[in-house]
Amino acid sequence: MSEEPPLIITIDGPGASGKSSVARRIAQALGFPYVSSGLLYRGAAYQVLRYGVDPEDEEAIVRLLSEHPIRLEPNAHGNRVLAGGEDITPHLHTAAVDEVVSAVARHPRVRAYVNDRLREVPPPFVVEGRDMGTAVFPEAPFKFYLTASPEVRARRRARERAEGVAEIEKMLRLRDRRDAKQSQPAEDAQVIDTSELTLDQVVGAIMRYLPAGLRG
Ligand code: DC
Repeated sequence: MSEEPPLIITIDGPGASGKSSVARRIAQALGFPYVSSGLLYRGAAYQVLRYGVDPEDEEAIVRLLSEHPIRLEPNAHGNRVLAGGEDITPHLHTAAVDEVVSAVARHPRVRAYVNDRLREVPPPFVVEGRDMGTAVFPEAPFKFYLTASPEVRARRRARERAEGVAEIEKMLRLRDRRDAKQSQPAEDAQVIDTSELTLDQVVGAIMRYLPAGLRG
């Protein structure tokens, strides 16, 4: 008899493609925890800024993360990143973190550190990021990849940030280029263009792909 793969749903896609909101809603609908890999990269970037480490210096970042480890607390509604006993989550969605996070996330040993933290989470869960369906959980039975035009993504992100749409779009396009290597859809992922869809429509499309038994 073949063993069932662990129940993991991966939702990947570029920045501001809607994957966090969608992943959170799917997790709530299924009663599973939601796991944000981007938040761990943001946590690592925040530590880099806080301790004044060079974002290009892989060795120094790895040392920093072993001396000041970060940990993810997943739940269905949102995630928290803890450094020691401190909740650093409120500091992770800022322009300063956006600016350095791709450089930090580019280092293979930083990626290995984040991936180890993610693989510690017991299934079932819904996980979102860039390479969840390809590098980290290739065995996941349900994989989705969300896309949207840079214009639409910039307008969405502008609702959460102080900067204007044009500035945000410029930064998103830059991050797209920097993150391109680890942001390809898995061959077996369902690709959904969310440019013309509401959040409810994207959630509905994903739920229709999941087996009826899971949907409760
Ligand atoms: O999804 P996000 O915008 O919060 O991710 C923040 C950064 O982390 C993004 O610029 C790329 C990086 N990231 C990554 O390299 N791999 C992931 N699985 C998730 C995020």
